[in-house]
Amino acid sequence: MVGHSAHHGSRTSVISHLLILLIVITLIIEMCLYSRIFKNQRSDDIRDNFKNGGRQVPGMAQNQGPHIEGEGFLSGVYYSNWSPYKPRFHFPHDINLMQVSHIYYAFFKINPRTGGIENTDSWSDLEMNLYKPLAIKSSELINGNPNNGNQNILPLGCIGELFYLKNICSDKKFKVIMSIGGWSDSENFKIIIKDNKLLKNFVDSSVETMFRLGFDGVDLDWEFPENNQSEPQGYLKLVKMLRLKLNSLESQIFGGRVEDHFQLSIAAPAFKDKLFYLPITEIDQYVDYWNMMTYDYYGSWSETTGYHSNLFSETELNGNFAMHYMIDKFGVNSRKLVLGMAAYGRSFHIKDNKFEPFSQNSVLINKIFKGVGKPTKEIDKADGKEGIWPYKNLPKKDTIEQYDPKYVSAYCFDEKNSIFISYDNTKSAKTKAEYVMHNKLGGGFWWESCGEAYTNESRSLINAFNEGLHFNVSSKPSIFQDMRVVKYYLNKYGDDGFLTPYLKHLDSSKQ
Ligand SMILES: *[C@@H]1O[C@H](CO)[C@@H](O)[C@H](O)[C@H]1NC(C)=O
Ligand SMILES: *[C@@H]1O[C@H](CO)[C@@H](O)[C@H](O)[C@H]1NC(C)=O
Ligand SMILES: *[C@@H]1O[C@H](CO)[C@@H](O)[C@H](O)[C@H]1NC(C)=O
Repeated sequence: MVGHSAHHGSRTSVISHLLILLIVITLIIEMCLYSRIFKNQRSDDIRDNFKNGGRQVPGMAQNQGPHIEGEGFLSGVYYSNWSPYKPRFHFPHDINLMQVSHIYYAFFKINPRTGGIENTDSWSDLEMNLYKPLAIKSSELINGNPNNGNQNILPLGCIGELFYLKNICSDKKFKVIMSIGGWSDSENFKIIIKDNKLLKNFVDSSVETMFRLGFDGVDLDWEFPENNQSEPQGYLKLVKMLRLKLNSLESQIFGGRVEDHFQLSIAAPAFKDKLFYLPITEIDQYVDYWNMMTYDYYGSWSETTGYHSNLFSETELNGNFAMHYMIDKFGVNSRKLVLGMAAYGRSFHIKDNKFEPFSQNSVLINKIFKGVGKPTKEIDKADGKEGIWPYKNLPKKDTIEQYDPKYVSAYCFDEKNSIFISYDNTKSAKTKAEYVMHNKLGGGFWWESCGEAYTNESRSLINAFNEGLHFNVSSKPSIFQDMRVVKYYLNKYGDDGFLTPYLKHLDSSKQ
């Protein structure tokens, strides 16, 4: 993991920090003006939620439907808690907050001795002060008095900032979901599912942490359960227990009636080898969404080069195959399937260096390769070694971005160094949005937010995807916009809650 020293910036980074701050301040002022204007709108929305009571208790007789029936599409993005560090310097407020419906916060890890979940980086999650020079301004904005010392009420860290942002962005709403696991935590899932006590602790701790930190749901990312007796069934048991625990929290808050909902999703493998032995139909009873990881189809581990996030191909390694496999083989409701897209490229150093000028893509895929190329200065050393390129740094210098409509993938090729990089661009994002609409899928998500091009809207992937959906993006407010949730929180945690000072403030300003 990256060290904490990364936040001691040089002079240029101080300047760029100040610039970012200036932008943030402007944004927040804008958002707050909106929130004043739309205050009544917000209470109307909450009232509408109440009216929709009597919703079916999930996980019972039939498969759970997605909780945004009949409305627009999900447009989500993962934010990783290592993003604030050099050379990324990417913060929650950088995300296109006006355009997303879900932010998935990666990752929480499992303690294999207790089964409980823990922060992977508590400084980044809960301590880093993203408001520091902004504090006085913020308190002025949230209660009209700059000098009442309220700057200490704002929750810290990336999690705190996201909670704050989702509360002040009341016109455009998004949920923030806690993501547990990830590639490096898969061993611990294997351990806890073997032991009922660890499993119970995992479930209790996940739901408790989710609520205490103000998340709107849980996303499980076990990469991947193995094909043997215990793991697929263990996964099912874990998901079921988690859903039931979330249900019980909901009924405690809403007094038995399920009026609002903590979301449960799974970041799922998107290829047959890892899917066919999972009890998908059974798991489907308990989850709201399947975040299908329809990317990483090719990489350093592959035998030949290939597009890594292609929608179609001659093989089974493509998004379309995975989606239809879920629908046709397991009967999953297409609206619960979310198409994963990559805000990064994967590179290959192609061995056979004999290319025609302006080579066609057919020369670039299915080739023998020798490594994934050298990392360049602008990207993480770790990412570079893996051949990962943030989208914002693509196409590679001195190359031209190309698009392959047959496979639905962008790519660029550095002929001089024989480096081939495939990735999603605005064209593939738009085509994928059309695919999502045509197949009545739930929507799409990106791994991960730091790759997005923020400085040029016409390069923005999220904007292109949403445009492809005709901006029909569903955004429901965070469950914490419901004052009964806030009251429950304050009763439960008293003065010790992570969000207590801020929620008390929100509570009193709404009296
Ligand atoms: C938005 O998408 C939903 C889900 O597909 C659909 O039911 C609805 O009609 C769409 N709305 C518009 C305005 O296109
Ligand atoms: C299932 O496979 C995993 C990984 O190969 C292994 O650790 C575990 O012990 C296996 N469990 C059983 C019951 O075979
Ligand atoms: C923004 O991106 C578009 C499309 O790639 C490009 O034509 C334009 O020059 C870019 N603008 C800036 C200011 O970089």
